[in-house]
Amino acid sequence: EKGGYEHFMLKEIFEQPKSVHDTMRGRLLVDEGVIKMAGIWDHIERFKNANRIIIIACGTSWHAGLIGEYLIEEYARIPVEVEYASEFRYRNPIITDKDVVIAISQSGETADTMAALKLAKEKGAFIYGICNVVDSSIARITDAGSYTHAGPEIGVASTKAFTAQLTILTLIAFKLGKHNGNLGNAEFMSLIAELDAIPKKIEDVLATTHDLVQNIAKDFVHATNFLYLGRGYNYPAALEGALKLKEISYIHAEGYPAAEMKHGPIALIDENMPIVIIAPKKGHYDKIVSNVQEIKARKGKVIAVVNNGDTQVREMADYVIEIPETAECFSPIVASVPLQLLAYYIAVYRGANVDQPRNLAKSVTVE
Ligand code: F6R
Repeated sequence: EKGGYEHFMLKEIFEQPKSVHDTMRGRLLVDEGVIKMAGIWDHIERFKNANRIIIIACGTSWHAGLIGEYLIEEYARIPVEVEYASEFRYRNPIITDKDVVIAISQSGETADTMAALKLAKEKGAFIYGICNVVDSSIARITDAGSYTHAGPEIGVASTKAFTAQLTILTLIAFKLGKHNGNLGNAEFMSLIAELDAIPKKIEDVLATTHDLVQNIAKDFVHATNFLYLGRGYNYPAALEGALKLKEISYIHAEGYPAAEMKHGPIALIDENMPIVIIAPKKGHYDKIVSNVQEIKARKGKVIAVVNNGDTQVREMADYVIEIPETAECFSPIVASVPLQLLAYYIAVYRGANVDQPRNLAKSVTVE
């Protein structure tokens, strides 16, 4: 059932061209220039009149939510807050019937997310679900929603569900932005054409980086710490890359917005500190170049995720992983793939139980 792969996690990483495509299928109609999402369309007035959108989730789904905030604020210009479900439910949050709450959950069974939604519902908010498991508890309690069509995710570490969540959030942001006039038609058309090309780009990344990342992983089997840095849309991608490594390899890793490095973590950098830095051409590239300079001045080991043909970061980095260029808002989808592979292979070489890491469960049904 692992389809020839050694672990479900690797199978699921490799399924992403298909799972992202399946998540867009029937929704993204590039030729007609339309995004069809009944869950949004049937309640468009609620979204249109929303004071703000609150995204609630845990773990990887929360990271997807952070990217959702960037997407919805940039393209639909609706204020978004992203909350850990566990914090939201216990802090007497201000919430009204003018709020739209979006819950993101692969399993649809996460106890804290469920409890937060009940609270939001009591206060009259409109609640929308982004779940992967059909007919799960969260899917059932929400007023409307869109399923991610990633297929069953068996590996405890979430991979294809994450990129499917990003796909849905992208569609929602573009649909709302197009509808409320913040996203002009020409830009909308070029963005959806680019989104349509993402499954192919993931496929290319898998083909071109798999062996390379495997080799890089060999050099870090004995690492005890990692930093992951990114800016803008790739800051949450850095958080997610670090979480993947922690979960399955048990190496301590932290994700940070790259510019925050000098407010603390830079003190950790020496020749033993591996730093994964996401540095695509679009999105604060020059700033990232300076961050890499600062790291190299302190002899940190840089593993850089750059675009094909990059020269500036390449000159300084110890390891370079190339990915194809894409619009900034899609880069976390593409950049996450080699980071998943890196975590996977480091864990495999450490002899860890990749599909069932210690202390973790696939659905966290207790708080
Ligand atoms: C990460 C991971 C967890 C889950 C979190 C939320 O790889 O598996 O952090 O993302 O427990 O789970 P769902 O999305 O099912 O609510």
